[in-house]
Amino acid sequence: MSTATSAPTGSAPTAGAPTASPPLPQAAFDTLAELLRTRSGLVIGPDKIYLLDSRLGPIARREKLPNLAALAAKLRAPGGERLARDVVDAMTTNESLFFRDTKPFVHFRTLAVPRLHAARSAGTPLRVWSAAASTGQEAYSLAMIVADLHPLLGDRRVEILGTDLAREPLVRAREGVYSQFEVQRGLPVQMLVKHFRKEEQNWRISDALRAAVTFREWNLLDDPGPLGRFDIVFCRNVLIYFDPPTKARVLGAIARQMAPDGVLYLGGAETVLGVTDRLAALADQPGAYGPTAAARGLAEPAAPWPQA
Ligand SMILES: C[S@@+](CC[C@H](N)C(=O)[O-])C[C@H]1O[C@@H](n2cnc3c(N)ncnc32)[C@H](O)[C@@H]1O
Repeated sequence: MSTATSAPTGSAPTAGAPTASPPLPQAAFDTLAELLRTRSGLVIGPDKIYLLDSRLGPIARREKLPNLAALAAKLRAPGGERLARDVVDAMTTNESLFFRDTKPFVHFRTLAVPRLHAARSAGTPLRVWSAAASTGQEAYSLAMIVADLHPLLGDRRVEILGTDLAREPLVRAREGVYSQFEVQRGLPVQMLVKHFRKEEQNWRISDALRAAVTFREWNLLDDPGPLGRFDIVFCRNVLIYFDPPTKARVLGAIARQMAPDGVLYLGGAETVLGVTDRLAALADQPGAYGPTAAARGLAEPAAPWPQA
């Protein structure tokens, strides 16, 4: 790893005039970067020391440690598990919004759900996974669409699972309470009126929508086998933080969990191209992918989707 010794970082404030923080020693940077890479997939370069400083400084202060070097030393010592979890959580970026980027949600509503509904026998649930769910806007956006599609779906059960590595965003997701600012970002006003009620300064999602989504802590680096098979996966704006081998591993594992005719949606800056041969772009929607034969160890592709 290249040198990381020149940026100021991580001192707990002392009384009196502010003093320049000492640079982060290389060994401390390596400890933090390795912990983040192995536990969450997050790749942090020396150019991101300011991010370590701003996100981990409060943890160092809480632990009454003078700086990030001391935090790294405490992480290396036995019994640092709780602290390691806190560090990983603090370094996640949890930005999310309702109906983010619009198009995947249009495809989900108009093509993916209708086609998969038609392809499944009665009584088989459709299973949808929001795989980096953060504070829940993505999963609830999907639940709102599913509610709209009731006339088509009839008594077809649609299970929506939202998972994330970070614990605090999941608490917020389960609570389903959003600020005025958050509901103004991407949520059509008729959806707001239909599915939320005002609670002082905030908006609380309806009990029906809350019941339509299950949230669970889950690390994308783990084998998703225990989560079961999915028809539709939204894994958006999280792969951007991973290095190519981690992206390939996570995408390969997701592909294995998908129904042969399932659909995966990635974020606008994410692709499978050059990363894995287990998924291929669908012809009818940029950013949507289906598992290839390679994902299932087959000689020929079986997906009914036209692949680009
Ligand atoms: C920028 S948010 C994306 C939220 C949502 N998918 C969207 O596009 O609006 C990225 C989320 O990925 C989660 N994350 C990061 N690494 C993860 C991992 N290894 N396993 C599961 N979730 C992870 C973060 O905690 C964060 O909530």
